[in-house]
Amino acid sequence: MSIKVTPSGTACGAEITGLDISQPLTPETVREIRDAWLTHHVVSFPDQKLSDDDLERFALYFGDFGEDTFFGPIAGRTHIAAIKRGADETTPIFADVWHTDWSFQAHPPAATILYGIKIPPIGGDTLFANQHLALEKMPHGLREKIALRTGIHSAALGYAKGGAYGDSDKEKGRSMDIRPSDKALEQQSHPLIRQHPETGRPGIFGTIGAYVIGVEGMRPDESLVLLSELSAWQTQDAFVYTHKWQENMLIMWDNRSVLHKATSGYEGYDRLLHRITIAERDTD
Ligand code: SIN
Repeated sequence: MSIKVTPSGTACGAEITGLDISQPLTPETVREIRDAWLTHHVVSFPDQKLSDDDLERFALYFGDFGEDTFFGPIAGRTHIAAIKRGADETTPIFADVWHTDWSFQAHPPAATILYGIKIPPIGGDTLFANQHLALEKMPHGLREKIALRTGIHSAALGYAKGGAYGDSDKEKGRSMDIRPSDKALEQQSHPLIRQHPETGRPGIFGTIGAYVIGVEGMRPDESLVLLSELSAWQTQDAFVYTHKWQENMLIMWDNRSVLHKATSGYEGYDRLLHRITIAERDTD
């Protein structure tokens, strides 16, 4: 089976049609999907009616399940989390700051899969910023400032007990099963510029706002200035693809290549997606 790949025409993203991913896939089709994903960084599959079994089977074609540190899984599964918001929920929108998933881990997930089950008629787009392109177009001066620098990542701002999704957020009635803990206080370092482990393409890894909290060897005030300048560059419209959701659509993005963020605009409507992270392949 030959798949059809239609690029978004913007900074990244492509739609894949011509296949039914609720059915087992041949190694050749998986390779074609992987190639399209590595090229376009975000791939979407519209009109796919998938059970949770189908979702897990699809994910496992691309690697082992990742470790979802601060999410409780949905009932009966160990690796599917629900990204959800009720029509009358008033807590802040989940994940509406730029980030790359779980970058505070020693081995952050290569991919994230999100499947749209209940999609509001307006709003709720997911934005993706291409970090290879952002680096390629970066002015020499900024590139010099970040070259050879290492970012310090932590989940504390979000998932510590006193963080944005901490104890007081739960009390306000968030429906998502988020499980804050002291594990969020741990720190992990990654170079600000990393080579993609599969394509070798250099890109900027992570950003301030969610998980990057400092730069090794710099004072906090100096790091803040540099990371803020970097963030303004990384997330410019020229590097962004806006993903519009449909029900029964699956997307898979490459956390090593893009930043992403959720958006609002669907107040008064339910939104429900199932999410799986996929671990980095073992390269040792
Ligand atoms: C996420 O960051 O995993 C959620 C994205 C979204 O809700 O659009």
